[in-house]
Amino acid sequence: MLRLFAALVIVGLLLACFTSWLFDSYDSAWHPKQRLHQSRKTGPPSPSGQLDNIFWFVQVSDIHISRFHDPKRIPDFERFCRDTIDVIKPELVLATGDLTDAKTESKRHSLQHEVEWQAYHNVLKRSRVQERTKWIDIRGNHGDLLLFYFLDDFWERWSCQKVGSFHYIHRTPFGNYSFICADATLTPGPKRLYNFFGIINQTQMDMLATFREESLSSNKSIWFGHYTTSTVISPFPGIRELMSTAVAYLCGHLHTLGGFMPVLHSRHQGGTLELELGDWMVNRRYRILAFDHDLLSFTDVTFEDWPAVLITNPKDAQYLHPGVEPLGRIGSSTHIRCLCVCPLEPSSTQTLTYEK
Ligand SMILES: *[C@@H]1O[C@H](CO)[C@@H](O)[C@H](O)[C@H]1NC(C)=O
Ligand SMILES: *[C@@H]1O[C@H](CO)[C@@H](O)[C@H](O)[C@H]1NC(C)=O
Ligand SMILES: *[C@@H]1O[C@H](CO)[C@@H](O)[C@H](O)[C@H]1NC(C)=O
Ligand SMILES: [Zn+2]
Repeated sequence: MLRLFAALVIVGLLLACFTSWLFDSYDSAWHPKQRLHQSRKTGPPSPSGQLDNIFWFVQVSDIHISRFHDPKRIPDFERFCRDTIDVIKPELVLATGDLTDAKTESKRHSLQHEVEWQAYHNVLKRSRVQERTKWIDIRGNHGDLLLFYFLDDFWERWSCQKVGSFHYIHRTPFGNYSFICADATLTPGPKRLYNFFGIINQTQMDMLATFREESLSSNKSIWFGHYTTSTVISPFPGIRELMSTAVAYLCGHLHTLGGFMPVLHSRHQGGTLELELGDWMVNRRYRILAFDHDLLSFTDVTFEDWPAVLITNPKDAQYLHPGVEPLGRIGSSTHIRCLCVCPLEPSSTQTLTYEK
């Protein structure tokens, strides 16, 4: 008994070391000591009773489509694409990597991988999700592994996005929003053991730096990728510095560390939030995010766990980013605003506002 206890303590300590290595601080709160880039002037518009200056989007990660494990994973994912997306009506969906499982004990990789990619592709086609929202998917270590065995055009054939980093600008009548993908997967991918880490080389850093410059004319920017920044190797000044003008970096990759770390949210030195999302594979997680008057709010939810509620004003104080968000608008707002999603409601997604 005592020995078991000692073993548990040691495992716990090791896990704590591992986590503190993964994140500079396992803490997302804003510390006054952190430098502010510049204080943003926070003029109008302010959140009111009107349904305006708001749009919302969804993130899903580590889907691990597999023909051999968990037969419910594919049909669940199809229901997600068809019903959940239909109810939430997000303007875009980010699928941040590990779309297919692509790992097997047997050595007959080829057929299995092709079948999995086909399954992913078929779900998108059958659910017609791409007709209802902008679907943006990126590689992950497992998607990447596949390139090791296959033709280069394989990814392009079965997925929607091209390989590599890119900058997508979401344009709305009230502002432009930058979504920058930092693709750190290796081409061709090394074997499984090594692709726990991603690499961004100088060429890619230069490209990302130009995206960053472009994004400065957008209202707000979001960076996203498969890997947490702690598992990306990049040249000076480092990937975190590049994304320091963003409100948040959205990623996946670590799942929930086997259930030990259900929430992996942290904050970089510069203030950017790093929001890892738990996996679809086992935990059926996804995330709803909203920009309401340029203030970012989000909630991590479980598939078909209704209702999903996201309070967009006032946003969760733990995730404020005074360096880039117009926080003064919270004070000058007249209403509490939230996004309520429940499939039983006649008009599904509703934005509710309450006078303060
Ligand atoms: C987005 O930026 C434009 C130009 O700076 C500004 O006029 C607009 O009010 C901003 N939108 C929001 C929602 O703050
Ligand atoms: C969004 O970008 C377009 C093209 O660059 C520009 O014409 C437009 O004024 C921008 N919208 C806002 C609200 O800043
Ligand atoms: C950097 O990575 C990209 C994409 O992986 C590759 O095409 C390019 O050749 C690499 N450049 C250098 C200098 O290694
Ligand atoms: Zn994964």
